[in-house]
Amino acid sequence: MENIDIQIHPSLRTVDWKDNKVIMIDQTKLPNELVFVEYDDFNQVANAIKNLIVRGAPAIGVSGAFGLALAVLQSKATTKDELISDLDSARKILFATRPTAVNLGWGLKKVMNIAKSGNSVEQIKQLVISEAKKMAEEDIEINKVMGKNGSVLFDDNDTIMTHCNAGALATVAYGTALGVIRATRESGKNVKVIATETRPIQQGSRLTAFELKHDGFDVSLIPDTAVGYSMANGLVNKVVVGADRIVKTGHVFNKIGTYQVATMAKQHGIPFYVAAPLSTIDLQTKAEDVIIEMRNGAEVTGIGDKKTAPDDIGVINPAFDMTPPELITGIITEKGVATAPYEESIPKLFEANN
Ligand code: MRU
Repeated sequence: MENIDIQIHPSLRTVDWKDNKVIMIDQTKLPNELVFVEYDDFNQVANAIKNLIVRGAPAIGVSGAFGLALAVLQSKATTKDELISDLDSARKILFATRPTAVNLGWGLKKVMNIAKSGNSVEQIKQLVISEAKKMAEEDIEINKVMGKNGSVLFDDNDTIMTHCNAGALATVAYGTALGVIRATRESGKNVKVIATETRPIQQGSRLTAFELKHDGFDVSLIPDTAVGYSMANGLVNKVVVGADRIVKTGHVFNKIGTYQVATMAKQHGIPFYVAAPLSTIDLQTKAEDVIIEMRNGAEVTGIGDKKTAPDDIGVINPAFDMTPPELITGIITEKGVATAPYEESIPKLFEANN
């Protein structure tokens, strides 16, 4: 395993825009190598989202926006209508990559609306690029405010469990759930973290454990099967996870296994928090209509390149699950913390937005 020089990479920036190119950390290579990839074609960005080179709801929202920024540069359009039509074709390709996180559609829509407000080809190009860059910077700011809002819910010497990766690597930087943990430490409290491995593709061990260790946290890794043991034996004080989509009833869609962690937390009287920006909240869609992405069985029948199951075995591999509101102690956002009844508290977050 190659040693990553932390002095060269003091903080992780997952997605960036430089010299008319999109720069991303290739997350499929972590934790063994910290490799940055550069794209100048929106199709490459779509491919990166589909193949988890970039992943995590806010990170794919911003990546989608940067994909459209590349599309305006690639377009040969000479009129506004032609450019909007080229952009819309790119939007469809980017949108088709992953179905569950609402941030992708949110980011694409935001940029399309800005594009439509432009009058000339040149103006639209500038508007699209500057909007995508602005979204990336705002993502970091939002995470910092969310972190502060959440930090008051955590105490000195807490051990906090998290699932999957909702950190700098799932956003542009700082993170949502891990942003709350960062802000808690920045407020002077001492915290430890337990990260679940998060099978099948191990965002917990490959990304969360890497990211927290990189930033000097006391982090312990557990197999997903040790969640109950850890809670039953008093090793966990609180849980915080991210979200891919939250609907207005407070049902939370997040990485597969979140529902099990939340159920266990309820069983042991451990507070279970979700941290997510308003861009992850979908007031339109009903819980039963959210599409759960089903991924390739090979993620389950092997670990990395090593086969760990018999040939031709049937596999069920949902990438996300739904945690019902009765298991959730609070939803931490940049506009405050929503608590039950969520049907009342979630819309209020948007009023506070005005
Ligand atoms: O399949 P992934 O790795 O994109 O899933 C990511 C998650 O489920 C995260 O927990 C979620 O996006 C929150 S990220 C701030």
